Amino acid sequence: MFGGGIALMHLFAASTQRNLGMAIAVVAIVGFAIYLIYNVLWAGRGEKGSELELAPNRKPYLSDEELETSRLDLALVGGLATLVIIGVALPLYWLGEPGRQQGYVDYSRDQFTSRGAEQFEERCASCHGGGGLGGTTATSIADDAGNFIAAIEWEVPALTTALYRFSDEEVRHILNYGRPPTPMQAWGAPGGGPLTTQQVDELIQYIQSIQLSPEQVRGEVLDSLILQVRDDVLAANPELDSRLEDAKAAVAAAGAEEAAAEAAAREVAALEQELRETSEQYIRNLNSPERGELLFNNGVYGCARCHTPRDSWRFTGPEEKPGEGPVVLARGSGEEAEVVAGFGSLIPAYIPGGGAFGPNLTNGATLRQFDTAGGHAGFVTIGSQEGVGYGNFGQGDGGGQMPAFGECVGDRDANEQSPYYGFCDGRPGMLTPGQIADIVAYERGL
Ligand code: HEC
Ligand code: HEC
Repeated sequence: MFGGGIALMHLFAASTQRNLGMAIAVVAIVGFAIYLIYNVLWAGRGEKGSELELAPNRKPYLSDEELETSRLDLALVGGLATLVIIGVALPLYWLGEPGRQQGYVDYSRDQFTSRGAEQFEERCASCHGGGGLGGTTATSIADDAGNFIAAIEWEVPALTTALYRFSDEEVRHILNYGRPPTPMQAWGAPGGGPLTTQQVDELIQYIQSIQLSPEQVRGEVLDSLILQVRDDVLAANPELDSRLEDAKAAVAAAGAEEAAAEAAAREVAALEQELRETSEQYIRNLNSPERGELLFNNGVYGCARCHTPRDSWRFTGPEEKPGEGPVVLARGSGEEAEVVAGFGSLIPAYIPGGGAFGPNLTNGATLRQFDTAGGHAGFVTIGSQEGVGYGNFGQGDGGGQMPAFGECVGDRDANEQSPYYGFCDGRPGMLTPGQIADIVAYERGL
């Protein structure tokens, strides 16, 4: 998988090589033709006049003795050496050629990756975190007339799994046009941003270089689910909860006593592991829509950040309002957020699946869009493609912005039709078919 720029360079290099080869072949053929014509038609004609007249001052040539020994040997060795060069060196050279070509491709990719990394640190890391591990950015929301309503902090997604959900071309689209009205601005020239096509290629190459392995992705998804249920699991296991509290207190009490501190830390680690296993069991024991709800709300790996209003941000008061002094407008995040001042009507209500960057999924919207759970799951598996309809009769308006969450086959950018509605490019899935079925079970009940 190489960026468009690399692919282009690759193609260019190949055609330059072919052109050179053609030029050499033409020179060789023309040269040989001239040689033949000269020897057969011209030099081969009988000599005019006697040898003495034609070469009156010719020196006596080498003796037969010399010609048949040292001279002959020299010619034979020269011929052998040339044969060795042609017979051995040329094939050897060509044997190494694919390696040299691959080396050049790797070299250019490394160049792109390292330039992309520099750009990323300069332009993107302030929001997406160093190494693209995720972060937050401070911003504000305003009413339609542009009046300040509230200061908020926006969760900025880690990019280490972005290419599990989007194709290279979809990432290019996000970089070119941004994601209004979120703080992700347009960066590429097509969207009026400052970056050239090559700089965007370099960034995509860099994003490719930071993708986690499929096993790591599965692990991250699970870790994030476990974090969500932590409080519930502790509440359901008061005995484990109090042992964990005690162990943590023992770590604090041990202070500088090394042996005691080590033993206490080991105890905390063992209990954390027990809590983890209990949590995994807890998640397995939930029914499908309940597990689906957790997966739906699973941060960067879930759906709520695009489909639930306010899910991507939290209020950060108090805020100064020009001319009115400090006022606390709202605090907190998610469902528990508390709108303090009288701006409630301007702040969207937190309704799970109520629609944000992605459409509203509640009140049977998805049932109307997808007759069957299988068709619905197929869409979540492969996402949308720009300009391609989805859902029953293809009435859904694909913008290429709904990510693909599962594994699929075919090349989406090359318009290869996948078994379901839409396209994909053979990437490994971020979610398993079972997890997607759980989400669909939850979503169809919204
Ligand atoms: C001002 C902060 C900010 C900066 C700077 C920024 N981004 Fe973003 N970016 C965001 C936010 C916020 C989102 C998620 C928007 C949302 O909630 O849908 C995002 C989304 C993305 C996504 C989509 C990820 C996904 O999983 O949905 C990509 C890819 C991306 N940014 C790449 C970049 C690159 C590359 C740069 C640097 C050229 C950059 N961003 C600079 C804030 C920023
Ligand atoms: C990066 C933002 C984003 C994320 C994350 C996201 N979606 Fe979407 N979703 C969209 C957009 C945008 C659309 C509209 C189609 C388009 O523009 O391509 C959409 C459309 C849909 C639709 C079709 C709705 C309709 O009535 O047409 C369903 C169903 C859906 N998403 C489910 C999910 C599920 C399930 C998840 C999580 C596993 C999810 N989405 C995560 C952005 C997102």
